[in-house]
Amino acid sequence: MLRTRRVVLAGLGSVGGAVLRLLDGRAADLRARHGLVLEVVGAMDSRGGAVAPGGLVPGALVAQKSRGTSVAELPGVGRPGADVDALLAELAAAGAPADLLVVAGPGDLRDGGAGLAAVLAARRRGTGVVLADKAPLVVAWDVVTDGTVPVRYSACVGAALPTVDLARAVLVSAAATRVEIVLNSTCQRVLGDVERGSTVAAAVAGAQRAGVAEADPSADVDGTDTAVKLVVLAAALGHPVPLRAVATTGIRDVDPGWVRAERARGRAVVLLGTAVPGTPWALTVAPAALDGDHPLARMGRHETGLVVDTDVAGRIAASGRHHDVVPTAAAVLRDLVLLA
Ligand SMILES: NC(=O)c1ccc[n+]([C@@H]2O[C@H](COP(=O)([O-])OP(=O)(O)OC[C@H]3O[C@@H](n4cnc5c(N)ncnc54)[C@H](OP(=O)(O)O)[C@@H]3O)[C@@H](O)[C@H]2O)c1
Repeated sequence: MLRTRRVVLAGLGSVGGAVLRLLDGRAADLRARHGLVLEVVGAMDSRGGAVAPGGLVPGALVAQKSRGTSVAELPGVGRPGADVDALLAELAAAGAPADLLVVAGPGDLRDGGAGLAAVLAARRRGTGVVLADKAPLVVAWDVVTDGTVPVRYSACVGAALPTVDLARAVLVSAAATRVEIVLNSTCQRVLGDVERGSTVAAAVAGAQRAGVAEADPSADVDGTDTAVKLVVLAAALGHPVPLRAVATTGIRDVDPGWVRAERARGRAVVLLGTAVPGTPWALTVAPAALDGDHPLARMGRHETGLVVDTDVAGRIAASGRHHDVVPTAAAVLRDLVLLA
């Protein structure tokens, strides 16, 4: 028997667009393997939304965005200026309430911004939430995850690498003694280029030209992105720590001579996020030189990963390789299927 779940997508940029393409491309697979139809009934960008209780056509939404126009301009279904609350209200009034909301707009770490507002709107209507935007978790962890509605956020911590799920599974019967993450692809690429002789600035510019680094790369190279992921991971393991309490040093001022000298000694400099249990847990982000046999040093520079050291379960490590945004969208899809 097929189950249909109505989905609203808030944010149709790199991640949201890739989610739309996956929903379209994998629809037959979802039916066959999970008996599931994920029907897009609402979509939002910066200028408003589009809504159709009977379902929007993902391909039409992708085409609209690839023309550089807003889905709010789509004839009949477009709702210029509408926010997520208005879209959810219209669907509920039509007798077709949304089951699931994907939040993939720009993150606002000051107050959660539109992402947090979208989560709060979903809570009021009993709509499950899948987050790619990390800001609501960082700004309002207790509210967002209090169980009022189911919330998943795989894409926030390591794209398709199941960091939170893996660590939680391991720690069911063991206690963490240390958690380490290397989860910023831009820093991995930049440090790899520095090892081969580049300066940090030239490597960052190269990553921008390749579309790996943002136009403003500061969240990556200054360590905030890694700190945010560490905060979310620690909170998911039961240890919320405010972002401001994370001692954070990025790679902008890293000494290329040190990076190359460590490489010559068989060690790898990475931007390492570390969580050490205590009261509270101590979270740190800083460049670190790891021994060559450390799992996070053995990874290639296209890979990211995490290590969980435990009291009785030994050392658990996982890494993943991703070149573009598709694995992030795959993580969103995974969460949608699990919530559905
Ligand atoms: N890119 C990645 O690899 C990655 C990985 C993990 C997590 N994330 C997170 O996922 C989120 C999206 O990233 P992205 O790379 O897809 O960003 P992006 O390409 O900049 O896209 C952002 C999208 O959000 C829309 N938007 C802006 N304001 C909005 C609002 N108030 N309500 C609804 N939508 C709004 C934008 O509209 P317009 O189209 O009109 O500009 C755009 O479609 C971010 O929070 C990011 O941190 C990204």
